[in-house]
Amino acid sequence: MAGRDQGSAEATSKHPVPPGFAGALVTPESYSAMYAASIADPDAFWGEQGKRIDWIKPYTRVKNTDFTFGQVSINWFEDGVLNVAANCTDRHLARRGSQTAIIWEPDDPKTPARHISYAELHENVCRMANVLKAHGAAKGDRVVLYLPMIPEAAYAMLACARIGAIHSVVFGGFSPDALANRVNDSEAKIVITADTAPRGGRRTPLKSNADAALLHCDDKVKCMVVKHTGDQTTWVDGRDIDILAEMRAASADCPAEPVNAEDPLFVLYTSGSTGKPKGVVHTSGGYLVYAAMTHQLTFDYKDGDIFWCTADVGWVTGHSYIVYGPLANGATTVMFEGVPTFPDAGRFWEVCAKHKVNQFYTAPTAIRALMGQGAEWVEKHDLSSLRVLGTVGEPINPEAWVWYDKHVGKGKCPIVDTWWQTETGGHLITPLPGATETKPGSATLPFFGIKPVVLNAESGVVQEGNPAEGVLCIADSWPGQMRTVWGDHQRFQETYFQQYKGYYFTGDGCRRDEDGYYWITGRVDDVINVSGHRMGTAEVESALVAHEKVAEAAVVGYPHEIKGQGIYAYVTLMNGVEPTEDLRKELVKWVRNEIGPIASPDLIQWAPGLPKTRSGKIMRRILRKIAENDFGALGDTSTLADPSVVDDLIGNRMNRA
Ligand code: WT7
Repeated sequence: MAGRDQGSAEATSKHPVPPGFAGALVTPESYSAMYAASIADPDAFWGEQGKRIDWIKPYTRVKNTDFTFGQVSINWFEDGVLNVAANCTDRHLARRGSQTAIIWEPDDPKTPARHISYAELHENVCRMANVLKAHGAAKGDRVVLYLPMIPEAAYAMLACARIGAIHSVVFGGFSPDALANRVNDSEAKIVITADTAPRGGRRTPLKSNADAALLHCDDKVKCMVVKHTGDQTTWVDGRDIDILAEMRAASADCPAEPVNAEDPLFVLYTSGSTGKPKGVVHTSGGYLVYAAMTHQLTFDYKDGDIFWCTADVGWVTGHSYIVYGPLANGATTVMFEGVPTFPDAGRFWEVCAKHKVNQFYTAPTAIRALMGQGAEWVEKHDLSSLRVLGTVGEPINPEAWVWYDKHVGKGKCPIVDTWWQTETGGHLITPLPGATETKPGSATLPFFGIKPVVLNAESGVVQEGNPAEGVLCIADSWPGQMRTVWGDHQRFQETYFQQYKGYYFTGDGCRRDEDGYYWITGRVDDVINVSGHRMGTAEVESALVAHEKVAEAAVVGYPHEIKGQGIYAYVTLMNGVEPTEDLRKELVKWVRNEIGPIASPDLIQWAPGLPKTRSGKIMRRILRKIAENDFGALGDTSTLADPSVVDDLIGNRMNRA
């Protein structure tokens, strides 16, 4: 995707900070000076930044980190004590108790929006925290959240943080199986869900999904239900709890539990190159400092601004830039329940105009989809409040960047293309609105304290000088870095620190150009990026082979107009099974049910055989090429056990674009 339009002069030219963009928090000069200081003396730099948040007991030690494989250990502000929820609510009460903390925009534009002040947020969080406590949740316990995009999702995250419980948000688009796996892996005591989740005029039956999931979990797990739509659900007496009713009866006073800086705040599951999603663990102090700082500086957020990140709280983007970063900064954050195209393709812009949004942050896939609907949907709305635009999740193709700049930003809003990951907690490579000249498709330069390095993929040798190309690693720790994989520190070390010794390996390939700008070229492992969401090909494969008619499956990504990458599955059927259109549809539905709609294969090719080496290893390189419709350059196929399967696969390829 990233390379698609790089030929056009408009796309490759540098875009200066728009002349009218004044009074930015970071300027070109202060960026250089502050970046140099952050690298020269991390202890001094982060020691100062740590003061952004309130500490119950201030830290005396700042950085204590070790990337050595076998003894990886990451600690920031390690003797500090704080409470994350108090930082997001209590500390704002004196100055901005009546300021809006959350603007909730419902799926249906005819339903009124809700404005929740910091005082109301505080009260709701305290009541919900008391309900959790009353049902036995305590410091260190895990609570799984499976919720729509409603204010209660933020209350629940902060209620956990208030009592020191660890939340694990599961995206509402995941299936009952995926939910059950996460409840079981985290050994959660409580699941918080809602009756149903309206999205784009349709409803996802969250409670009935949770019922199905809980059949596979310990029967002591409690289920708290937000009665959001009022839709009818089944009710299991003794297990199910009407959380809103109990909140009304609960005390509005709940002391904030002091937690250590390194106590876990949340676990968030993400796909890797093996079949089993990893529980990414983020802790309290460093994560909050990093989320707050990046939210303020990447978006040039100032008091009184209205900030809108369109992500779902089921992803890390929602954690850091709907909830924790903005609320730690006392911001007004918009939470949107719906989708960009409901009731029409103007919804995003209608909401920007309605709530006078100043910073708008979305995914390239949404921009591409809306671009396809025509600029007239944008022009209908008054977007004069917008100051900064952001993108996240995947490389943005220059064509979409230019459209976003011209039609949404009217050439006046800096665009920040933020590169980061679930593992990094916040932005690592990103422009800063008042400081960085941008180039469409490039995430540009490192954030403060970040030392990116480009290594040769095979040799692991650091590529000095510009330009350079290879795999992207980070040479030293930053406060928002993940600390471990839940329950499996060995897997943490093996995934991120084994292949390239002494570095954090991101899994991304990249290029650094003549100006030192970074261009992310995509994953170098068996992870694909579908609409800005990470999907492990192995996960889709295991879902497919779980079907009784499937003998074998291999899944790869291929370029997709809107989604960035689409899911291409090669399927070998059991002996005697007839390959039909109906079976194709059945397999797509099967994967949706096993994992969720985001894992639906876009193309399924019947493969009588897969290209394997004589030792039985599937040669994915060949499958990727065929899926990309680029089979002219298959490279060396002489090591294949049966080279003739390749001709069959080419002849019956599904992507002829
Ligand atoms: C992967 C991380 C971090 C929030 C959303 C995704 C890709 C992310 C960009 C960008 C190019 C990007 C990378 C990364 N990615 N942002 N601005 N430009 N690629 O989080 O699910 O953890 O996925 O998304 O490949 O490794 P995630």
